[in-house]
Amino acid sequence: MCLGNICRSPTAEGVFRHLVAEAGLTAKFEIDSAGTADYHSGDAPDHRARAAGRRAGIVIDGAARPFMRSDFARFDHVIAMDASNVRDLGYMAPSPEAATKIRLLRSFDPEAEQGAPVPDPYYGDDAGFDHVLELCRVACRNLLAEIRRERRW
Ligand code: 4NP
Repeated sequence: MCLGNICRSPTAEGVFRHLVAEAGLTAKFEIDSAGTADYHSGDAPDHRARAAGRRAGIVIDGAARPFMRSDFARFDHVIAMDASNVRDLGYMAPSPEAATKIRLLRSFDPEAEQGAPVPDPYYGDDAGFDHVLELCRVACRNLLAEIRRERRW
């Protein structure tokens, strides 16, 4: 989950998908990304995010879509990129239990301070997109490890 669903969350989705495939667990997961805003609906990920993926050997693909209330029923984890996404998702949660599914991606990064975002790279340069990808890689690795521990996979 991010704002536009063209930079950060497609990057996190691609990285997570890559790690899940590497672990041979693709069949066990449904992985998707979405945005809190719908002004990029249907768009491919930003070309700079795709290029950062290519540099790292990770496919970043898909079409942007807005997050929907029904996503809370569809997914066990709703992973947000920054505090404003957490707040916007919280407004959409149909129940307090659903709201407990919302976590910040970097809460899975032991190096990150509490509340640290994946910074929005949209108005920056290519290095910002490489940085986002690296942050996603660290956090997604730990997120996958946590899910595997929970599920005993
Ligand atoms: P994202 O980045 O939330 O990581 O997809 C952004 C994409 C588009 C805009 C802002 C952030 N925008 O203002 O259009």
